[in-house]
Amino acid sequence: MNVLVSGAAGYIGSHAIRRVRSAGHAVVALDDLSLGHREALPEGVPFVECDVGDRERVRAALVEHRIDCVMHFAAYINVGESVTEPLLYYRKNTTGTLGLLEAMQAAGVKRLVFSSTCATYGEPASMPIHEEMPQTPINPYGWSKLFSERIMRDLCHAVPDFGCIALRYFNVAGSAEDGSIGEDHHPETHLIPVILQAMSGVRDKISIFGDDYATPDGTCVRDYVHVEDLADAHVVAMERLRPGFAYYNVGIGHGHSVKEILLAAEDVVGKKAPAVVVPRRPGDAPELYADASKIERELGWRARRTDIRATIKSAWTWFQRRPHGYASARGNEP
Ligand code: UFG
Repeated sequence: MNVLVSGAAGYIGSHAIRRVRSAGHAVVALDDLSLGHREALPEGVPFVECDVGDRERVRAALVEHRIDCVMHFAAYINVGESVTEPLLYYRKNTTGTLGLLEAMQAAGVKRLVFSSTCATYGEPASMPIHEEMPQTPINPYGWSKLFSERIMRDLCHAVPDFGCIALRYFNVAGSAEDGSIGEDHHPETHLIPVILQAMSGVRDKISIFGDDYATPDGTCVRDYVHVEDLADAHVVAMERLRPGFAYYNVGIGHGHSVKEILLAAEDVVGKKAPAVVVPRRPGDAPELYADASKIERELGWRARRTDIRATIKSAWTWFQRRPHGYASARGNEP
């Protein structure tokens, strides 16, 4: 297939585009480089530099490259920022997706794999989270993705041969095995890179956001899925895509607490992490982990890289190569 990958210069998009290529498909990268890194793009891949919501330019790219399927990653992802800048999130994530869908319709492209999130579930009453639980987000980020899902669902209903799979990711972690590409956000807020930055002196310490949750050790529990497993899930989803709207959780199916991640990272790096306990971060749910049985049952995908030490080790390999991220990264702040 000919596949257009939006957000191809971002963390997940850059891993996915390599995997799609290695599965034998032709790829076109699309990114506006507002947050992504040009160096993260694979060599020799056609690159369209534009906003995913730019209907005319995206339509033209879809036609020019005879695209069969779109993988749509381009989005803003910072939950806290979405609370203070909601319009930014609705414009980039929801309106951007709407523009892409209009471009796809104008170009006659009818297959889409969409980067959704477990943030669409909000704070579920019980764990693990399965796909039929209510979707009631607790922040604009989650709503911006849920609205996008809704638009896709309606489009699939209206256009019977349109097919879309929404993959609802849990916490994505790790890097390509060879450390050639990896996670590089500015500012960085995600737990594993923050720990690695603190261990290598790029930042002075790691703050544990609350140790008084009703969890086994008092810290929050999350489901950390390896970015390369997630990339595999996209290829499987694309190859098994049928008309209609389908949705799947993508996680490993169990959680690790913040303290467990810290200990595992200390084990991998071989030194203590400078950590302090601080008050809870607003909006953090105590526990979030997936029931990922539906995607295994229906698409035959399940996480293979489930050893959290190995996941952290892959992030560390990248981090040692690029302690300050890509050379083109804006600013130097951690
Ligand atoms: N944490 C700390 N200290 C830090 C950073 C994080 O204690 O410096 C804790 C958080 O409180 C949370 C856990 O580590 O309990 C994981 O936090 P992350 O910021 O790494 O990830 P989140 O679970 O908040 O969010 C991630 C993605 C979102 C996505 C969400 C779905 O960043 O895009 O998972 O749960 F929506």
